[in-house]
Amino acid sequence: MTTPEARPGFPSGTPAELAHADLVGRLAREIYGQGQAASAPFAPTLPAGPQVPQAQVPQVQVPRALPPAPAGERPSGIEPGIAALGARSFGAPPVGLPGLTGPSAASPVGASPAPAGANALDLGAVPSLHPLAGPFGPNPLGSRALPEFFVPSLPEVAAGLPGGTDLYRQIAADHPRAHAFAQALAPALVPGDPSRAGVDVAQEHVRRTGRPPEPTSLPSAEADYYFLNPSPSPARRGGRPAPRPRVEPARHDGPAPRALALGSSPAAAPFDVERVRRDFPALHQSVNGHRLVWLDNAATTHKPQSVIDATSEFYGRHNSNIHRAAHTLAARATDLFEGGREKTRRFLNAPSKDDIVFLRGTTEGINLVANSYGRANVGPGDEIIVSTIEHHANIVPWQLLAQATGATIRVIPVNDRGEIIFEQYAALLSGRSRIVSVTHVANALGTVNPIREIIALAHAYGVPVLVDAAQSTPHIPIDVQALDADFLVFSGHKVFGPTGIGALYGKSHLLAAMPPWQGGGHMIEDVTFAKTVYKGAPEKFEAGTPDIAGAVGLGAALDYLEGVGLPGIAAYEHDLLDYAQEGLAGVKGLRLLGTAREKASVMSFVIEGHENETVALHLDRHGVAVRSGHHCALPALRRFGVDQSVRASLAFYNTREDVDVFLKVLHTLPRR
Ligand code: ALA
Repeated sequence: MTTPEARPGFPSGTPAELAHADLVGRLAREIYGQGQAASAPFAPTLPAGPQVPQAQVPQVQVPRALPPAPAGERPSGIEPGIAALGARSFGAPPVGLPGLTGPSAASPVGASPAPAGANALDLGAVPSLHPLAGPFGPNPLGSRALPEFFVPSLPEVAAGLPGGTDLYRQIAADHPRAHAFAQALAPALVPGDPSRAGVDVAQEHVRRTGRPPEPTSLPSAEADYYFLNPSPSPARRGGRPAPRPRVEPARHDGPAPRALALGSSPAAAPFDVERVRRDFPALHQSVNGHRLVWLDNAATTHKPQSVIDATSEFYGRHNSNIHRAAHTLAARATDLFEGGREKTRRFLNAPSKDDIVFLRGTTEGINLVANSYGRANVGPGDEIIVSTIEHHANIVPWQLLAQATGATIRVIPVNDRGEIIFEQYAALLSGRSRIVSVTHVANALGTVNPIREIIALAHAYGVPVLVDAAQSTPHIPIDVQALDADFLVFSGHKVFGPTGIGALYGKSHLLAAMPPWQGGGHMIEDVTFAKTVYKGAPEKFEAGTPDIAGAVGLGAALDYLEGVGLPGIAAYEHDLLDYAQEGLAGVKGLRLLGTAREKASVMSFVIEGHENETVALHLDRHGVAVRSGHHCALPALRRFGVDQSVRASLAFYNTREDVDVFLKVLHTLPRR
């Protein structure tokens, strides 16, 4: 697809806005299929239109409770909404509505029947559906669905109805900006020249570009939700999949992400696990008379010698407070500390090291955003969106914020594999949403969320997204710019660095607008009893003496991780996870919790007839360290009917031999 920037006649917008619109359009097509692309509820960067009195806003009756999916079909969320809106707007029978393919379009639950005698194309009310007109009923599209975006983008719907093409042309002419926008998002569907509505747009596309339109289709039942990865899911059971890098060809033009997920890693370098193991002294010890097998990496990771050396050398030679003294050690300590910040910037591909705030870890990072950004931007009736599979660090700070402000927490459900149900996420977004805060990789289940798409959809509603990357940073290359993350947090100790240090990335304009959270030294320009002038980010958020040695150690850990290479790590761990999960399938009575098609590191399970703690203790007696308990993620576990499990979690220094020992010990669990 040609980028919107290159499209003649596209009216305005910064390159970033247009690139974003492009991304969202592509996303729309991925989710909904070409026929519905531009009708999806995306209103990314159009400026607000005129305020319309609430009285003029038609009520569209679409139940918020989503209908159960017909057997074998994916649940429906958005499509019934679109179909219902179509039915309402067009006053046409919804069944077989052109351009609305898929099972739910044929039976749009909740669509109000067109009133008898209704104008078959009663679009007069369309402009009054502007998002600024406010909520218009329990509509899964949310109050921000832009009908002037929706309606002109359905020329073939119009063409299928009496008088439709003329009316379509009229609407498109009356809303040129919206029309141009829709056209930029779905060029194969929406003619650039509204007077050409009704001609074969696909043929036009071929004529203009020499290429057929991008083939798209609704995801099949097999491919539902995880439209991210069109290639067949690797067999998790049965035959051994050949070890391979999880390389996914670029699916779109546009800025190449450094890498976004396991499935999008660039080519992996050969991975020498024995070599990396030599760097981790703690791995080479006996526990209870057995070689240590460390499978508690989701809780914390071991440290390579380079991290231990950097931290100890800091205390042994350079120790000083930072930024405050005109002596040599202070200068050294400051350089080392700020060097850690620069390495963190590089690790995340943040635009500026001023976008990196050091703090204690993921938990403190989320608390900072909730207390600073949240208190400034969330009020009564507002909504905060999280998912069912968050750990407590990404639930409790938002609950505290909600209690303090009168906001509500909305929770994205997950399916039985532990994957978020994307349509239901879309249905939760609305003009009331103030922030989406979701994990990239779920700590109790290992699910890798489609984070880029989660972000793009939230941005379509103007909602910022915090990415909890605590469990993804050890396994998956991160690029905050490619993700377009607004905030991202991670912890040093999970990326082979020290405890007590972590980082928050925030977009600079967001950090600049946020008030300080904690007050104290180091974060001020000037203090009088009348008034304090704060420094800018990041110092504004770093009151008091920070964990200087921690930042130095974190920098060393990120150097180490980058030296090993996250693409290679991702590929290696993927193979190891497959191997381990296949083995677990052979353990009698074992139920794996979390079987997402995109998974990283984590195997959470219960074994019938055995207490979780007993299983963990049995493993420990044989030198195998796993975690048992609730993993600070009770709602995630309760979704699967338990409130505890045993969790084994891998890192790149684990081997197949480690997995073999783990499985063998599980097979020797004493009968009760
Ligand atoms: N969040 C850490 C875990 O998952 C502590 O175990």
